[in-house]
Amino acid sequence: MKNLHPSIEPAVSTIQGPAAPGPSPRAALAAMQPYLPGRSIADIRAEYGLERVVKLASNENPLGPSPLALQAVRDMLPDMHRYPDDRAALLRSKLAAKLSLDAARFIVANGADELITLICEAYLEPGDRIATYSPTFSEYAFGGRLMNAETIAVPLSASFALRAEDLLAAVDARTKLVFVCSPNNPTGTYMPRTELSYLLSRLPEGCLLVLDAAYSHFADAQDYADGFELLREGARLVVLQTFSKAFGLAGMRAGFAAGPADVIAHMLAVKEPFNVNALAQAAAAAALDDEAHLEATLRTNAAGRIRLREGLERIGVRSVPSQSNFVLADFGARAAYVCSELLKRGVIVRSGAGWGLPDWLRISVGTAEEIDLLLACLSDVLRTDK
Ligand SMILES: Cc1ncc(COP(=O)(O)O)c(C=O)c1O
Repeated sequence: MKNLHPSIEPAVSTIQGPAAPGPSPRAALAAMQPYLPGRSIADIRAEYGLERVVKLASNENPLGPSPLALQAVRDMLPDMHRYPDDRAALLRSKLAAKLSLDAARFIVANGADELITLICEAYLEPGDRIATYSPTFSEYAFGGRLMNAETIAVPLSASFALRAEDLLAAVDARTKLVFVCSPNNPTGTYMPRTELSYLLSRLPEGCLLVLDAAYSHFADAQDYADGFELLREGARLVVLQTFSKAFGLAGMRAGFAAGPADVIAHMLAVKEPFNVNALAQAAAAAALDDEAHLEATLRTNAAGRIRLREGLERIGVRSVPSQSNFVLADFGARAAYVCSELLKRGVIVRSGAGWGLPDWLRISVGTAEEIDLLLACLSDVLRTDK
């Protein structure tokens, strides 16, 4: 990966050791880096002998899953001996109706993660390029490495803005895919509608824009665009969505992409037939109808985001204005210490080190009670660290 961000580590081989009998793995595997998930509640409970652990590390829904989704899963259980629908027809027709786009313009996958891999598998030849920002979601570079393609990572501005011009400067004749995460993980910043349209209008014909809108539901800025309006106007881009965040179904694994019908057909061509299990399809379809759960989620998040940022400010911690369900906060040289002290107190947050932001912690927006607990623990840690 050619990295324009000086603070990001270059790819290192994770598959080492003496040659074993049998075929050698593809050369691309030497460059693969494992995804580092947030620590689990069970892990931290066991490690520190704690009763209560609050996880604010993976941007999950603090209200839990949609009750309608839970019921749909219960109803589906007796049919577990049947294969799922390989094209997720019910879910795609619901998406089509909701988003006013033809059903042929949707593909459903085992989470947005799988969508990223499918796009890379469908379009990248060895030596092709992906352009994206840094820091951003790591799976774009993962998909690139998998296909022996190169990822060009363009630094965000000093205030973590996603500037179209900077990304365009990194696009050349070898660039097939451009990934824009908006709101961006881990910064919570976003690409305004006019920047997005400008980017689209300036990309060369052979280059496809993928807008990862996994956190779009949480964005309330007037000039935020989730890409669906552009799709309805006939623009050529792919929009990624997940059921893991606003719909509270991270453990079920379901996501979808919307795009031009030909692009969706290319992604379908490399998809495993039964990639989305029947329970996940049923849960996702029901969650789409659960307006009360979505409204409660967005209300909780909007209030929680303010509560978290104001609370951090009160204890002298600056954070980045966020359009998402997490907040990136600057703890300076104490970040690693704060992160591990919070763990001992039963609060899991995410270190920014993996994104080349060692001074920062990414904190998911929890319930008001979880945020207050986090802030109390933080005050305690910062006081004793003076
Ligand atoms: C920006 C972004 N895109 C995609 C995903 C993957 O979502 P899923 O759980 O649907 O695989 C995540 C998960 O954290 C994410 O942060």
